[in-house]
Amino acid sequence: MSATLPPSPSDGHASEAIAVAAERRWAWVVMAITALLVLVMVVTGLHWAAMPPSRVETIDVRTVHIKGEFVESNLGTTLGADGKVVVRLIAQQYSFEPQCIVVPADMPVTFRGTATDAIHGFVVGRTNANTMLIPGFVATFTTTFRRTGEQLMPCHEYCGTGHEAMWGRVQILPPEEFLSKARGGERLSCVQR
Ligand code: CUA
Repeated sequence: MSATLPPSPSDGHASEAIAVAAERRWAWVVMAITALLVLVMVVTGLHWAAMPPSRVETIDVRTVHIKGEFVESNLGTTLGADGKVVVRLIAQQYSFEPQCIVVPADMPVTFRGTATDAIHGFVVGRTNANTMLIPGFVATFTTTFRRTGEQLMPCHEYCGTGHEAMWGRVQILPPEEFLSKARGGERLSCVQR
């Protein structure tokens, strides 16, 4: 029947001691969780810093325009003999080259891009085609566009005072239409020349 007794001063001290002990315990739990998270961050950070990414392609910024894969005549979209669609583009302050890109829907499209002056980025509309373009490196990814139509392709990495005016367009064509245009083997783009 102790519950019906008025609490004595010693009971108050006991419950206070219990509360303090519980708070201490939880403080340790929180500290342990925090320490674990910091440890995970440090270990993964060091791990990633020490290991090169699985593949890094570099390119000489000084000769990008003059020789190799990203000369102007090689930019745009190509349909390879193996049926692969490859888009090559360059980003520079403050435009993309080419400014308008043609791709097919429902076929894998590989993008290969680089930048010549600052870090740029691009994203095609609301698709998952999204990457950063960094001087000295070739960015590449493959995606498949499901819907035909025209999409905007803005630079999404702040690259200088003209950043917000830097954007291109992507025309996604039905596969048959794209293939009939691309069969010639030349570089395709939708820029009006
Ligand atoms: Cu280029 Cu922002």
